[in-house]
Amino acid sequence: MNILVCGGAGYIGSNMTAMLARHGHNPVVYDNLSKGHKSAIRNAQFVRGDLADYDLLVETIKKYSIDAVMHFAAFIEVGESVADPLGYYYNNFCNARNLLQAMVDTGVNKFVFSSTAAVYGEPETIPITEDIAKQPINPYGDSKRAVELMLSFLSKTGKMNYAALRYFNACGAGEDGTLGEDHQPESHLIPLIIQAAMGKREDIKIFGNDYPTHDGTCIRDYIHIEDLCKAHLLALDKLDDEAELIFNLGNGKGYSVLEVIETVKKVSGKDFTVITGDRRPGDPPVLTADASRARQQLGWTTDFPELEIIVESAWKFHNANPDGYGD
Ligand code: UFG
Repeated sequence: MNILVCGGAGYIGSNMTAMLARHGHNPVVYDNLSKGHKSAIRNAQFVRGDLADYDLLVETIKKYSIDAVMHFAAFIEVGESVADPLGYYYNNFCNARNLLQAMVDTGVNKFVFSSTAAVYGEPETIPITEDIAKQPINPYGDSKRAVELMLSFLSKTGKMNYAALRYFNACGAGEDGTLGEDHQPESHLIPLIIQAAMGKREDIKIFGNDYPTHDGTCIRDYIHIEDLCKAHLLALDKLDDEAELIFNLGNGKGYSVLEVIETVKKVSGKDFTVITGDRRPGDPPVLTADASRARQQLGWTTDFPELEIIVESAWKFHNANPDGYGD
């Protein structure tokens, strides 16, 4: 299939693009490079463009005879979204709407959407199933939830089949460890700890050690980027027959911040300073997925569920690319 990968120069999008090419698809990356890296795009056509540019979207869809769209081009920082809600609703919601309009107007009816565990807010039951209440507690989560609702209504018109994939904590490096995380500024736990292990930052700060968990630090469900991308391929195949698919993507096993730090110490063989700071606003104590729906309906399995393997792949990427993609 000819697949438009919006945000294909970013961390998840670039891994997805590489995987699509490996599976015989023709990915076309559409990215404004505001966050992504051109050198992360492998084996794909590239169009530098903005999702706000309806005319360029329509032109690109027609030029490359696009059959389906995968959409990764969104802002992802919870804290930033609290400070700039309008920016988040514009980029994450209005631009997604623009993209969907371009798809409907050109007759493209398959859409795979990057959603997030942040749509659940502070869940009352763990592990999280897809059907529990969606009560996002920040503009980031709500902007994703709003797109999901728009998609649900759109699918009922018969004009769009979609899969909303709710990611837990995507991490690690894919494509043989050569496509890893390089965010500016970095805010994600594993790359930050690795920076401390590499001596690129003085310490790692734990955001709160007084949560109601076994060691007091937050627990998250870390999912390897290759496993995450694999689920997209399976979901895409299902969109021939299904109008609406919604899946959690996680391993179902949680690791605390302290456990992640210990794992990086073990994998790297380095010691570094760990300090404890205040809680970060908006962090739920525990987020782990019940991903049995994806396992049953898609036949999804994960190849790299162990945190140590995930961290090893990230460690390898950061050591090979100490300055990230260097752009
Ligand atoms: N943390 C620290 N110190 C740091 C950075 C993070 O203690 O310097 C903690 C956080 O408080 C949190 C955990 O490490 O408890 C993971 O934090 P991340 O920022 O790596 O990831 P989040 O769980 O906040 O969010 C990630 C994605 C979101 C997505 C969410 C879904 O960044 O886009 O997972 O669970 F919505």
